[in-house]
Amino acid sequence: MELFFKIYEGLKREGPGSHAMTRRAWELCGLSGKPEILELGSGSGGATIPLAQVSGGVVTATEIYRPFLDRLVERAKAAGVADRIVAAVMDMADVRAEPESFDCIWCEGAAYIMGVDKALDHWKPFLKPGGRLCFSDAVWRMDPADAPARLRDFWAEGYPAMRTAGANNRAAEAAGYTVLGDFLMDQACWDDFYDDVEQRLADVEPVYGADPDGRAVIDMTRVEIGLYREYPESWGYSFHVLRK
Ligand SMILES: C[S@@+](CC[C@H](N)C(=O)[O-])C[C@H]1O[C@@H](n2cnc3c(N)ncnc32)[C@H](O)[C@@H]1O
Repeated sequence: MELFFKIYEGLKREGPGSHAMTRRAWELCGLSGKPEILELGSGSGGATIPLAQVSGGVVTATEIYRPFLDRLVERAKAAGVADRIVAAVMDMADVRAEPESFDCIWCEGAAYIMGVDKALDHWKPFLKPGGRLCFSDAVWRMDPADAPARLRDFWAEGYPAMRTAGANNRAAEAAGYTVLGDFLMDQACWDDFYDDVEQRLADVEPVYGADPDGRAVIDMTRVEIGLYREYPESWGYSFHVLRK
């Protein structure tokens, strides 16, 4: 796992997204004042900084890999929002906070790590009554049964629980949330992300390419990028904005 993190260090962000997408999701939340926000799986702050900027709130950014948080803190200082960001190492599957302490929980591109259904249940007690949960998740944009076999096989291994945006919304409702809105992330976010990852892979290949684990991560990521370029409208990220 450590090697996986090392290979992904130094990217602009660790998953697809943008300031505009974060702002759009935040606007769907409909919160004002100075909200208390808990971010899970923050990475190096790709979403944290825009979130602090658009929300005007206090963001507790949490992440399992310390070097990502160190970079997040540097970026927060450079962006002039460090006074409203608290960074802490925390496992998203073991949130340590008082019940009902946050107006909003935010998670871009990371809920899949513990599984969206588990996340919906585990995070809910930490939201104040009426609090918002906002997450983005990789989703099928087509019926997987109709997907080309190579694509289906890849995701059956990479993210077997991946489903459609509609199925995520139904799961959220079944878990007791109200869906305030959802939208598909712009394709440009994926293009930017994969261009950045591709460059990073070229840079780290001489360092990690001879290690079997490193080789596996590099090869698997290249397959994913190739499949995305071949079938660009088959999967994407959907943002889901929910009210407890
Ligand atoms: C796909 S990245 C998304 C990062 C960031 N939210 C973004 O959009 O750029 C997933 C992040 O979750 C972190 N992560 C992995 N397992 C985790 C866990 N159990 N608890 C918290 N964070 C975790 C990874 O280190 C990584 O930074």
